[in-house]
Amino acid sequence: PDWPAFRNEPHTDFSRLRAQEQMRAALQRVRSQFGGTYPLVIAGQAVAGARWLESVNPSRLAEIVGRVALASPEQAQAAIAAARQAFPRWRDTPVRERAELLRRLAEEFRQRRWDLSAWIIYETGKPWREADADVAEAIDFCEYYAREMLRLAVPRTCHVPGEDNLYFYEPRGVAVVIAPWNFPLAILTGMATAALVAGNTVILKPAEQSSVVAAQLMDCLQAAGAPPNVVQFLPGIGEEIGPILVEHPDVSIITFTGSMRVGLWIQEAAARTPPGQDHVKRVIAEMGGKNAIIVDADADLDEAVKGVVDSAFGYSGQKCSACSRVIVLEPIYKAFLDRLIEATRSLVIAPADDPSCFIGPVIDAEARQRIESTIAAAEHYARLVYRASVGPLAQQGFYVGPAIFTDVPEDSPLAQEEIFGPVLAVLRAKDLEDALRIANGTPYALTGGCYTRHPEHLRRVIAEFRVGNLYINRKITGALVERQPFGGFKRSGIGSKAGGPDYLLQFLWPRTVTINQ
Ligand code: NAD
Ligand code: ALA
Repeated sequence: PDWPAFRNEPHTDFSRLRAQEQMRAALQRVRSQFGGTYPLVIAGQAVAGARWLESVNPSRLAEIVGRVALASPEQAQAAIAAARQAFPRWRDTPVRERAELLRRLAEEFRQRRWDLSAWIIYETGKPWREADADVAEAIDFCEYYAREMLRLAVPRTCHVPGEDNLYFYEPRGVAVVIAPWNFPLAILTGMATAALVAGNTVILKPAEQSSVVAAQLMDCLQAAGAPPNVVQFLPGIGEEIGPILVEHPDVSIITFTGSMRVGLWIQEAAARTPPGQDHVKRVIAEMGGKNAIIVDADADLDEAVKGVVDSAFGYSGQKCSACSRVIVLEPIYKAFLDRLIEATRSLVIAPADDPSCFIGPVIDAEARQRIESTIAAAEHYARLVYRASVGPLAQQGFYVGPAIFTDVPEDSPLAQEEIFGPVLAVLRAKDLEDALRIANGTPYALTGGCYTRHPEHLRRVIAEFRVGNLYINRKITGALVERQPFGGFKRSGIGSKAGGPDYLLQFLWPRTVTINQ
């Protein structure tokens, strides 16, 4: 293509006064739009929901960010019918036009970048830097998948005397996009744009907790010129409309990012082939993690402490990529632990719109309750060596102070289950062999890391620490599109990596045509 090569969208440097002023202005602008209503969009028409969901700012519970329509089962059916009707035309739209739509969407995001960050900060409690990175990643997905589809659109040919062979791709049909709240713009955009540019029509089913941000995406898609029928905006309760979307015979693709529990259910339900379904559904499921960082005896402790703290407590540990286990080799165990506790003590707990915030609130009351009870239960079998108090913020929002545990049994929930909060288990290993055994000893395989300066240990960790994304001597969160295609295996997922060269293939059928000359 005659487009410039893909480059990651730069993140904002908030040490610049101008950037701080622009972020503050956007926070004010967006605050003045609190309480707005966001309808469903089916077949290009705004439609009121059967009920309305009040989306609350988790940093300040008195603030209602917006009221979002909740789709009924009948409206879910109508969205599938509209997507199905729109499919043939979108399938036959030239690839370049579909790719151009993604580039216009990226441009729309750039124009609204500050406001999109502000919506993310308010609705999902993300600190400034993390919200800005979310928008940058959404831009990256558009720019990257647009180019990827142009690459895949060139048919492969194979000529032999008397015979021409063509190998090319076609879209599959209606794609249901089911997203989590923790990367409210990036993940929803990534899954949706991949499906769209490949020529599928899309039903956007955002997470309940981040439906206002999702409505901003829908608005950007419309402003970028998405044809009216091609994307349906269908916020709703997962348990109510999810099964309708997953089990419907007219759905061809379900692309899901979220918890293992829901992902495994979708996998099972989509495998059934109800009467009237003339195809086998494709499921892409990106699920959770129980990610570990190994700290070797010769690690640079300044780097290791910072990397572990960022990975474990950034966005309060609410990332599938977050570090929830740190495995420390015996010789440096005590020195590392002392410094880890002091570094964690220095983290600022504040509302997410406060520029000094490192630890904001967790997403909702259910998450706070789940994390607090996990901590309380763990105190019976492990040693709580650090717990931050959130003070009066406890009355204001869903704040949870970071917790660090030692003496954690390897088979305990703290060492085996995803907590999705600011809770870190510190485990002690005799040597690298032992560390690798512990690191690989969970059902998940998403991210992992190691701090080491030992060339032989480095080689072993690369070969034997079996995770989807392994990081050496750096934090384990913050994968960038194209540079670090992202995704796991084992019970962490079954998709090809998001932001990588195989991702779009999942949204396409390959076809071979042979012409006898
Ligand atoms: P979740 O599984 O509770 O919800 C995800 C989505 O599924 C939501 O839109 C929800 O409404 C929907 N849903 C719920 N029940 C459903 C059903 N029966 N049928 C269909 N859809 C249903 O997850 P969450 O709390 O939104 O997100 C956190 C989880 O996501 C964590 O486990 C995290 O590790 C994972 N995650 C994984 C990745 C990755 O790339 N691997 C990225 C981000 C988050
Ligand atoms: N892609 C996100 C990260 O790497 C989940 O942190």
